[in-house]
Amino acid sequence: MKVLSVSSEVFPLIKTGGLADVAGALPIALKSFGIETKTLMPGYPGVMKLLQNPAVRLEFSDLLGQPARVLEAEHQGLDILVLDAPAYYDRPGGPYLDTNGKDHPDNWRRFAALSLAGSEIAAGLLPGWRPDLVHAHDWQSAMVPVYMRYYPTPELPSILTIHNIAFQGQFGADIFPHLRLPPHAFATESIEYYGTVGFLKGGLQTATAITTVSPSYADEILTPEFGMGLEGVIASRRDALYGIVNGIDADIWNPATDPVVHTHYGPTTLKNRLENRRSIEEFFHLDHDDAPIFCVISRLTWQKGMDLVASTADRIVALGGKLVVLGSGEAALEGALLAAAHRNPGRIGVSIGYNEPMSHLMQAGCDAIIIPSRFEPCGLTQLYGLRYGCVPIVARTGGLNDTVIDANHAALAAKVATGIQFAPVNEESMLQALRRAMHLYADQKVWTQLQKQGMKSDVSWEKSAERYVALYSSLVSKGMT
Ligand code: ADP
Ligand code: GLC
Repeated sequence: MKVLSVSSEVFPLIKTGGLADVAGALPIALKSFGIETKTLMPGYPGVMKLLQNPAVRLEFSDLLGQPARVLEAEHQGLDILVLDAPAYYDRPGGPYLDTNGKDHPDNWRRFAALSLAGSEIAAGLLPGWRPDLVHAHDWQSAMVPVYMRYYPTPELPSILTIHNIAFQGQFGADIFPHLRLPPHAFATESIEYYGTVGFLKGGLQTATAITTVSPSYADEILTPEFGMGLEGVIASRRDALYGIVNGIDADIWNPATDPVVHTHYGPTTLKNRLENRRSIEEFFHLDHDDAPIFCVISRLTWQKGMDLVASTADRIVALGGKLVVLGSGEAALEGALLAAAHRNPGRIGVSIGYNEPMSHLMQAGCDAIIIPSRFEPCGLTQLYGLRYGCVPIVARTGGLNDTVIDANHAALAAKVATGIQFAPVNEESMLQALRRAMHLYADQKVWTQLQKQGMKSDVSWEKSAERYVALYSSLVSKGMT
């Protein structure tokens, strides 16, 4: 089967969050099931630089007003189609934000163009290759199924995966005439959303199937608390909604071979983590002692509950823990965390910025990772934590709920516990979870058991890839009847 995947970020070419990890790892996992994926993504400057011997596969003289080309290249096992459109993507800043941290003002056109190119490839424009199915991700490519509906595309099934419903791609109605859609597309059963244009909303209405990245989040987005206004639309498509939990690339994230990890280890050589721990203490200027190191690797936002980490930081130290934070995001949170580190020399270290190697080393050297998200569609850092013996302490929500087994008495006795869950998401319950962690840590036998059990959890893509294969196959065979 041939699949066209469309994503605004793909690891290892460009990454701002978990979407990139998933868009980069799923095609590789699907290969062993005989699924051949080509991945269409924007030609940001960093991506263009990494391409080796790209071949020009397709040219558009006017893709929503600008010329563009589709280049194809192989990159670390991925078959990449890059949309080379300098007017849209060749500029400073990140994929979504300019150098001042503001949305690029033409994001609607940049990602509508990506989606339109995707629908043209779905229609068979790429010489010699036509997909059997299209898989789009988040609002940035949610317009693929919309264009597929209105452009003359042979009946192809499409899937839209929601990685985070908080980001919806909602724009003023004034952009509608520039999208090159027929007037009747501005309707409730399509992209019209309370008088505005909703990219994600349109994709949810037009995709053959909708998936999200954990079973719990699939249930949650049907409720007003988590649906962010789209719960009604999702409920109307309930029969086409699937929750498939993310996996991780177990080769990239492997403590026994990870090139950035100083001392490699496995479940029977956990003692080797000690040297990695020392490197973390050095990097973050922490005291060398036996106190557990709690870590945070995250976007610094309200979604991720980072305000709770900032407001409880001194109390985490008072409990006897050390804390290290790697992240970037809202300026106020960055400032509050840096101030906490300043108040607690030797006990708290904060590094503002994005640092992929350090994120690996922290999982390999810290004792536990705190993830107090207010909502979390899947979450990947708890999966990396499980794989690296860095015990996840998580809010009981979304994918965190589905992937971590709480160390309650019964689970500990049955030796199935892999971490700690807490609810509701507030200071007291998070601190209570950290107290429980300190208590478990004090008995190294119990703690080691928790680490080992986590390392045994199946966090690979295998099972989830199988679920995608089953869904792909059912949609493709339905399309043929
Ligand atoms: P989200 O996509 O909502 O940010 P996920 O948990 O799915 O959350 O994925 C976040 C990804 O980004 C993980 O791979 C995590 O290790 C990585 N990450 C987050 N912040 C940083 C950072 N400051 N430096 C390096 N990696 C980071
Ligand atoms: C989003 C979600 C996160 C999920 C990731 C990959 O960024 O916030 O929970 O793990 O997408 O699916």
